[in-house]
Amino acid sequence: MGLNIDTVPESVAIILDGNGRYAKKNNITRYMGHKAGCDNLETILEETVRLNIKYLTVYAFSTENWKRSEEEINGLFKLFDLYLNRIRKKAIENEVSVKFIGDIEKFKKNIYESCIQLEEETKKFDKCIFSIAFNYGGRDEIVRAINRIIKDGNSTSIDENTFSKMLDTKDIKDPDLLIRTSGELRLSNFLIWQSAYTELYFTDVLWPEFTIDEYHKAIDDYNKRSRRFGGR
Ligand code: IPE
Ligand code: IPE
Ligand code: MG
Repeated sequence: MGLNIDTVPESVAIILDGNGRYAKKNNITRYMGHKAGCDNLETILEETVRLNIKYLTVYAFSTENWKRSEEEINGLFKLFDLYLNRIRKKAIENEVSVKFIGDIEKFKKNIYESCIQLEEETKKFDKCIFSIAFNYGGRDEIVRAINRIIKDGNSTSIDENTFSKMLDTKDIKDPDLLIRTSGELRLSNFLIWQSAYTELYFTDVLWPEFTIDEYHKAIDDYNKRSRRFGGR
């Protein structure tokens, strides 16, 4: 029996972790584990729209994930390419605007162009802003922003608001709630600037097993918290 959710955070971020452990547990390849993770992402995206959550930002591939085997990386890019089409359909059906954060210019030309095309095609939608972090690292994002500022050469000093606008996340509200599945208690370089005052939720549930009920549990836990931003 699911929880009854009447209030929701405006901006949710998720670190999709545990596909590998799910594969091991079910005696399937890591590739199939990642595939199960992609399928679950579609379910959670639809539920996000249904709940009227305005921003969903997910961590799909980090700048550190290049340390994985070539086989696994190739598999992840294959899935990314495959799911771009499926996400496109879901986005149009649900009036979702899709964005990418991270250094996607490093992708192969055809994948990079599909990403830009998908952003263009869905930018008119505003029911939900769904951002996919691919080749994303918080430190890398900050350093790229600083280099942009240096290159522009117009500023001698900068404030927090202006700096936030230089980041990949300029169109995304800072997360109210950040969920990490799979029991790891760290941010692994995700949204390190943006999560300064985010409420964190960690669960042992593996990402492919993170059901709608589990999602509701996380939101319910968030709703019980009293948010503070340093004031009294
Ligand atoms: C998360 O699952 C997906 C990516 C990092 C691409 P993992 O592959 O990290 O799964 P575990 O941590 O090995 O279980
Ligand atoms: C974080 O998960 C990155 C993504 C989910 C895309 P990892 O599995 O790569 O993180 P660590 O290595 O456990 O910190
Ligand atoms: Mg992991």
